Amino acid sequence: MTALETILECRGSGVTTECSIPVLETERLVLRAPRFEDARAIAGVANDRRIAEMTANLPHPYAEKDAENWITNAWQGEDHPFLITSKTDGALIGATGFVMPEIGDPEIGYWVGIAHWGKGYATEAARAVVDHLFMNHAAKSIAARARVVNPASRRVIEKCGFQWVGAGLTRSRLLASSVPVDKFQLDRSVWSSLKAWRDPILRRSAPKIVIGELG
Ligand SMILES: CC(C)(COP(=O)(O)OP(=O)(O)OC[C@H]1O[C@@H](n2cnc3c(N)ncnc32)[C@H](O)[C@@H]1OP(=O)(O)O)[C@@H](O)C(=O)NCCC(=O)NCCS
Repeated sequence: MTALETILECRGSGVTTECSIPVLETERLVLRAPRFEDARAIAGVANDRRIAEMTANLPHPYAEKDAENWITNAWQGEDHPFLITSKTDGALIGATGFVMPEIGDPEIGYWVGIAHWGKGYATEAARAVVDHLFMNHAAKSIAARARVVNPASRRVIEKCGFQWVGAGLTRSRLLASSVPVDKFQLDRSVWSSLKAWRDPILRRSAPKIVIGELG
C-alpha cells in the first residue's frame, strides 16, 4: 500500500476548510475519498439488495441522492469512507473505510459491487485500511463485524487477521430490525506479528508506505 497524502476541500456547516485525506494505493486498487461526481456511479454499483442486506446502513433502493448525502457527510464526523477504484482504469469497484468513535476502537467496513465479487478486492482493500489505521493512528485494536449469514465477509475479516471476540446484534436499516452478528478484533500486536512474519501470501498485498503528491 502506498499512502498518497492529498489536500482536499472539506465541506461542512457552510464553512470550507482544508483537511488531509489519505489516498491508499495497493497492488490493484486506489482507495480515495468519494467526490460528488462519483454519485451516479456509486448508485449504479450499490443499488443491489444483496449488498444492502449485509450492511448496517446502506439504503435500498440506492439512488444518486443517497450517494450525494453520503458524500456530503464523508470525513465530517466519525465516518471515514474510501471508494475502492481500479488502479488500471479508475472504475468504481466498491467502498470501504472506518468509523472512528470518540470512545472505543475504530471499526472497518466494506462492500464490493456484485460484478467484482470473488476477486480478492475486499480483502486487499480492507488490509490497506487496517494498515493505514495502525500506521497513521494510535489505535490499539480495530473492530469488525459481520452478519452470521455472511460467510464471505467473515472470510475477509479472517484473512485480515481478525479474531472472533463474541456475538451481538446490529440494527439493519434495510430489514428495520436487529440482526445477529459475529464481532471480531485485530490487536496491534497481532497485526505487527503478521507483518513481521512476512508470510508470502500476506506479502502479496503488503504495504509499502510512500508519501507523495496526488495529481
Ligand atoms: C463480503 C464482500 C465484501 C466480499 O467481497 P469480495 O471482494 O468478493 O471478497 P474477497 O474476494 O476478498 O474474499 C471473499 C472470500 O470469501 C469466500 N466466500 C465467498 N462466498 C462464500 C460463501 N458463501 N461461503 C464461504 N466463503 C465464501 C471467498 O472464497 C473468499 O475467500 P478465499 O479467498 O479464501 O477463497 C462482498 O461479498 C460484498 O460486498 N457483500 C455485500 C456487502 C457486505 O457483506 N459487506 C460486509 C458487511 S460486514
